[in-house]
Amino acid sequence: MVRAILLGSGYVGTYLAVGLERIKKGAVAKYGIPLSKYDLPYRVEDIEIVAAYDVDLEKVGKSLYDLGRNIFGEDYDVPETLKKVVVREGINLGSTQGLPFRTTGLEKKYPLKEAIDKLIEEWINLKPDVIVNVITTEEGTAYSSKDEAVDKILRGDAPATHVYAYAAAEYAKRTGRGVTFVNAIPTPVANNPGLLQLFEESGAVVFGDDGATGATPLTADLLEHMAERNRFVEFVVQFNIGGNTDFLALTDPGRNKMKETTKSSMVKDILGYDAPHYIRPTGYLEPLGDKKYVAMHMEWISFNGFRDSLFISARINDSPALAGMLVDLIRLGKIAVDKKLSGTVYEVNAFFMKKPGPLNSKNIAKTHAYRQLLHWLGLA
Ligand SMILES: NC(=O)c1ccc[n+]([C@@H]2O[C@H](COP(=O)([O-])OP(=O)(O)OC[C@H]3O[C@@H](n4cnc5c(N)ncnc54)[C@H](O)[C@@H]3O)[C@@H](O)[C@H]2O)c1
Repeated sequence: MVRAILLGSGYVGTYLAVGLERIKKGAVAKYGIPLSKYDLPYRVEDIEIVAAYDVDLEKVGKSLYDLGRNIFGEDYDVPETLKKVVVREGINLGSTQGLPFRTTGLEKKYPLKEAIDKLIEEWINLKPDVIVNVITTEEGTAYSSKDEAVDKILRGDAPATHVYAYAAAEYAKRTGRGVTFVNAIPTPVANNPGLLQLFEESGAVVFGDDGATGATPLTADLLEHMAERNRFVEFVVQFNIGGNTDFLALTDPGRNKMKETTKSSMVKDILGYDAPHYIRPTGYLEPLGDKKYVAMHMEWISFNGFRDSLFISARINDSPALAGMLVDLIRLGKIAVDKKLSGTVYEVNAFFMKKPGPLNSKNIAKTHAYRQLLHWLGLA
């Protein structure tokens, strides 16, 4: 069994939990899970979500079943097994500031250090192998050393994601069990030298940062296509408009900057030059819901100076795309724990993440990253 904890019980968290339970009862095929066609030491069905956290007062205290019902409606098959996972209260530290819902947070009831200890105690009892971070994207900076990271985190001068990362490292250190922290959001953890040092010294692993799901991996592969054919890309436009709360949160400039940073790093890495580009989530339009509108436009110079262009228009279900990848990341996280690794694993990050850690590592085409990942797993 692979024991997983969800930080953030929003769309992605709930889609993941519902999809997993539906797979377990044979109601749906395993499409959208990249490695499901290979034999890994752990099956998709082996994943057990042992706890979920949130800070939204509308979610804390409800079960993942209730949250699934809210999203999918009364007629959808939301497995009753999710009734046993009741959303617990997490640490907030302003991660939901400016969003239109009432929130709570353990640090509002206890001094921060005590709140963190309470969380670690809960995790010691829950015995997670993998902790998945899918909370609202928040602003955050990198630390140059472990000491700076720990100092800022314990002083309350850090985003919730970094507090959770610290708690995961402490959990690994105190129990000696090892754990993998999957950072599926842009707030830097795997690209954060201070936190990485903390993970290395605590016997914990981090995969990150920011799950690569919709247009970004497609753009990466198209850029590779251009690079291999020596076509000179003049510009790249890629934008998304969505109607879920993630897109609403990203209308905040600070949060949006985080996404832009994780999405844009690939252009220079893959082409070898920084073609002018506009790659970022662009707007919120409620009626689109979770099915975002993606547009892409690229122009390049071909043989003898001729100019070609490409246009892509797509509607993509946002949350299931990440949820499917998380199924693999959870299994890979457990494999990393079994191997007693610490720090981060570039081969995993390069395929699954928009900004693969550690800091300054290369963003390569996902088609190449996939081969490297299979090699790392001994499957190719
Ligand atoms: N395809 C994708 O959907 C995709 C791809 C890459 C990254 N992401 C990232 O995944 C994250 C989740 O996306 P979503 O669509 O589920 O968003 P969402 O807004 O539906 O869910 C986020 C949840 O996190 C909760 N939360 C906020 N701060 C918290 C805290 N400190 N502790 C615990 N819970 C907290 C919120 O209350 C909310 O329930 C976002 O940061 C998003 O940028 C999503």
